[in-house]
Amino acid sequence: KTIALLASGGLDTCTVTYWLKEHDVEVVCFTADLGQPDETDFGAIETRMRACGAADFVGVDLQRHVADLGLEGIQAQSCYESRYWNVTGFGRQATTAGILPEVKKKGLTVLAHGATGRGNDQVRFQLISNMLDPSIEVYAPWRDQEFLNRFRGRSQMIDYCEQHGLPIKASRDKPYSTDANLLGLTHEAGRLESLETPAQFVTPEMGVWAKDAPDVGEDFTVRFEKGMPVQVNGKAVDTLGAFLEANAIAGRHGVGIGLHMVENRFVGVKSRGVYEQPGIELLGTCYGFLIQLVLDRRSRELFDSLSDLFAKQVYQGYYNDLASRMIRTAVGEVSQLMTGTIKVHVYKGQVSYAGSVDSPHSLYSLDSSMEAEGSFDHRDSEGFLRVLAVHAKALSRVGQV
Ligand code: ARG
Ligand code: SIN
Repeated sequence: KTIALLASGGLDTCTVTYWLKEHDVEVVCFTADLGQPDETDFGAIETRMRACGAADFVGVDLQRHVADLGLEGIQAQSCYESRYWNVTGFGRQATTAGILPEVKKKGLTVLAHGATGRGNDQVRFQLISNMLDPSIEVYAPWRDQEFLNRFRGRSQMIDYCEQHGLPIKASRDKPYSTDANLLGLTHEAGRLESLETPAQFVTPEMGVWAKDAPDVGEDFTVRFEKGMPVQVNGKAVDTLGAFLEANAIAGRHGVGIGLHMVENRFVGVKSRGVYEQPGIELLGTCYGFLIQLVLDRRSRELFDSLSDLFAKQVYQGYYNDLASRMIRTAVGEVSQLMTGTIKVHVYKGQVSYAGSVDSPHSLYSLDSSMEAEGSFDHRDSEGFLRVLAVHAKALSRVGQV
């Protein structure tokens, strides 16, 4: 029997690979290159997985894929529970959708993953895989009684790997777990589970804490055309390039570094995390300034509700369903209007608006300002206010206020 394993090269997937081999299951490891800031040597992952007993190793470059997904998050302005850009949610989507075709090509029918039985990731791997290819069976060792009888936690896995001389990267004193891709890093578990542990317990890997950022800030200018970032600080970029530039600049000024979050997992429990999401926070904030110029009151209201819904969809692994497709179509209408250049200043964790030019679909006009002599005459509002007053006074008369 041969099965496919989604392998990051971390402790869990090293343990699972060797443990399955011990149970006479041959494992083919599939590893996604998502531009993980904490793991740049893919040759080393292959060597490690083979040393852990993998019969074969397939690396898949999904950097552009995850960058495109991150851009959809920006275009929809979707943050889970108002803060979290779904860094891991998009990562799982890219990995599962990108690797399934490779699993098929190898003629394999079972896809295993190393997510635990208490989290969101198991849901995402399962739902994404089931929706994209119902013929593939998903297997989670962490929900298998036999696996649980052998391993109760991290330290038992480390013992096991050491016993068998497996070249794991993990150390006993790594105090929390990290999931990584080029959109950001999510740190959870271990010492971070305690609410007594401050967010600053985390050592950032994509930049610095705001307090450690330089005393001199930096300008950042991004040009969007029809919703796509095409220029950063005057230099032409594609979507991936925009994220890489934005990560570097935001990271060194502490923007999007170290968000503390207690969130509601899909499975119903709360979890505490500390997140790094520098580039997507910076680009997303700039995009938000552009959106402010363009959307009228009614489209804004619809957009905000779709934005919130899309964040939940991605978080829960429903990126591929009809609701998500409907949202993408609607948001696509908005993206078509998002052309313009936004300049901001980044300084010690803050992004402040510094100016914008040439946005052809901007509704902002000086006609409504105090100085303008435009088409909006103060006196015209007299009748308008008299009409509104009828209702306001009625509310008072009948004791409704
Ligand atoms: N809570 C985040 C999410 O559900 C991150 C989960 C994965 N993080 C990790 N360190 N394993 O998207
Ligand atoms: C895990 O439990 O495997 C990671 C955290 C999550 O999936 O929410």
